[in-house]
Amino acid sequence: MKERIEQLKKAIEAFSVKTEKDVEQFRLQFLTKKSELNQLFADFKEVPSELKKELGKELNLLKNFAEETHRVHQETWSSANADAEKDLNDYTLPGYQSGSGNRHPLQIVRNRMTDIFMRMGFDVSEGPEIEDDWHNFSALNFPENHPARDMQDTFFIDADRSLRTHTSSVQVRVMESQKPPIRTISPGRVYRNEAISARSNCFFHQIEGLYIDKGVSFADLKQTLFQFVKEFFGADTQVRFRPSYFPFTEPSAEMDIYLGTGTEADYRLTKGSGWLEILGCGMVDKQVLSNCGIDPETYTGFAFGMGIERITMFQYGVKDLRTFFENDVRFLNQFASV
Ligand code: DAH
Repeated sequence: MKERIEQLKKAIEAFSVKTEKDVEQFRLQFLTKKSELNQLFADFKEVPSELKKELGKELNLLKNFAEETHRVHQETWSSANADAEKDLNDYTLPGYQSGSGNRHPLQIVRNRMTDIFMRMGFDVSEGPEIEDDWHNFSALNFPENHPARDMQDTFFIDADRSLRTHTSSVQVRVMESQKPPIRTISPGRVYRNEAISARSNCFFHQIEGLYIDKGVSFADLKQTLFQFVKEFFGADTQVRFRPSYFPFTEPSAEMDIYLGTGTEADYRLTKGSGWLEILGCGMVDKQVLSNCGIDPETYTGFAFGMGIERITMFQYGVKDLRTFFENDVRFLNQFASV
């Protein structure tokens, strides 16, 4: 019996399968009622009881082996896979290519941005996406019931907590926990209750920057951001600062870069003006400094915040922001070489 088991194992191994029909042939030969395998199980009854344990085990192993081999043949040669009659023994064929992943475009841009700021001496900090009222609003000079809170449509969780509407909340956390000099950038995801369209989504990504030390001035703010733009968009990029309003900075500004209106895409993106707004910034309001335990008479500082999606769309000519989150590999694979 032992010999018969071994012979059958060899026969199963040697059976060459090259087409879908062979798979069926394999089944007929080894797995039907009339098969040698079945016969072996029938003859097992006659095996002397002292050998039953060992041979029973081997017989079961053989059965598993036959079934498993059949399953593998089936998988390899099912019509879907066997579009050509493959010869598995042709070792000269090139190997199968296994795909490798690549970074998401938003991640690529975020990394480039953080790299530039890190070279200027900034470190990277993070904070929670579920944030309390103090860190997202109150400490940043959005008083309760103040209309400035309407600047950002908020997803509330309960009376005190919401999904953070901006990464400025991380500024507060850093200032509360560190002593100046502080130089940090905080990339992260933020949430706003906005209608979803090609240009806006209910969540997106920002990078926040914060620099606090003795004697930091608006000139430092301009020079830092100017340096960033030159490195990120190219040395010839023109920028302009426009006065603006944010509750947590005074004075506040927005910065635009000049794209021109030469191409239709640039014309549309800049609404015909040639200028693309890329960030908000300003000198950290004195009240915000003291809210966070930093003496505004000794220290000054600047902050800025920019959206990552808009800049990524511009950089790569992506027309619809929603494509970033659909995980369509045909879209994502286009960034494989970046
Ligand atoms: N938090 C602002 C927003 O989400 C962006 C911003 C503006 C951040 C000015 C800043 C700043 O740090 O100084 O719209």
